Amino acid sequence: MDHSGRDIHAIDPPDCVIRVVQLTDTHLCRRAGGTLLAMDTDHSLQVVIDRVLRERQRVDLVLGTGDLADGGASEAYERLLGYFSQVTEHHYWLSGNHDDRAAMESALDRPERLSRELRVGGWQILMLDSQVPGEVGGELGPAELEALERALSAAEEASLYTLVCLHHQPVKVGCEWLDEQMVADADRFFAVLQRHPGVRGVLWGHVHQEIDRDYRGIRLLASPSTCIQFAPGSANFRADDRPPGYRWLDLYEDGRIDTGVSRVTDVAFTVDLESGGYL
Ligand SMILES: [Fe+2]
Repeated sequence: MDHSGRDIHAIDPPDCVIRVVQLTDTHLCRRAGGTLLAMDTDHSLQVVIDRVLRERQRVDLVLGTGDLADGGASEAYERLLGYFSQVTEHHYWLSGNHDDRAAMESALDRPERLSRELRVGGWQILMLDSQVPGEVGGELGPAELEALERALSAAEEASLYTLVCLHHQPVKVGCEWLDEQMVADADRFFAVLQRHPGVRGVLWGHVHQEIDRDYRGIRLLASPSTCIQFAPGSANFRADDRPPGYRWLDLYEDGRIDTGVSRVTDVAFTVDLESGGYL
């Protein structure tokens, strides 16, 4: 806890560039080998992690941005600990609409994995909870928005840049069925961000596709799932044949973000492209 009573988890950076990997929407089932649209989500996650380990020389932290378990089973979170720990001991988790926060907490080895505020080098990484229990769509709500405002004010005082993470998308992505699920109070969210010029990026999961846009100097980023993908531009639910992947982000001392997506190219996956939905 800091003097304001906020729970801030500090990580010592080994270098001036902070190397982050986002692994999102892992959708692990209760039992290893369980499938989503015929894809084995344990297998696809392991293949993506193998790729991270081959491609990234150093990973300082992993951000798991929600839908970590498909049905919120504690067994899935227990396995997830093992998967993410292959990359780094510094991995942090967010709740998505498929997750069960209580099951997550009980499965965790360290409570700080669910910290809202992380500080590493010249950066603050905020993990906001957009989950509305029992709902598919997201909303931050007044308490989360107030916490965001306080954290951004504190970051400004400490001259930190900020990357804001949440599960649901705060902007329309061009898929009508997904756009109905975007963060309900996104206008208020952006109004807060606009008051704080240190905010450099917003990163989310949920949409199972890659997005990289600029909004008034803030990088807006979404990423492939480590399992099934959603087809961009689809009016109704449609799975995509693009392979699983991950996003890497390098955070620089001057506030710059370098980022990209890497998808699996050397393993063939089974996916049911005719499915009408997965929720
Ligand atoms: Fe998801």
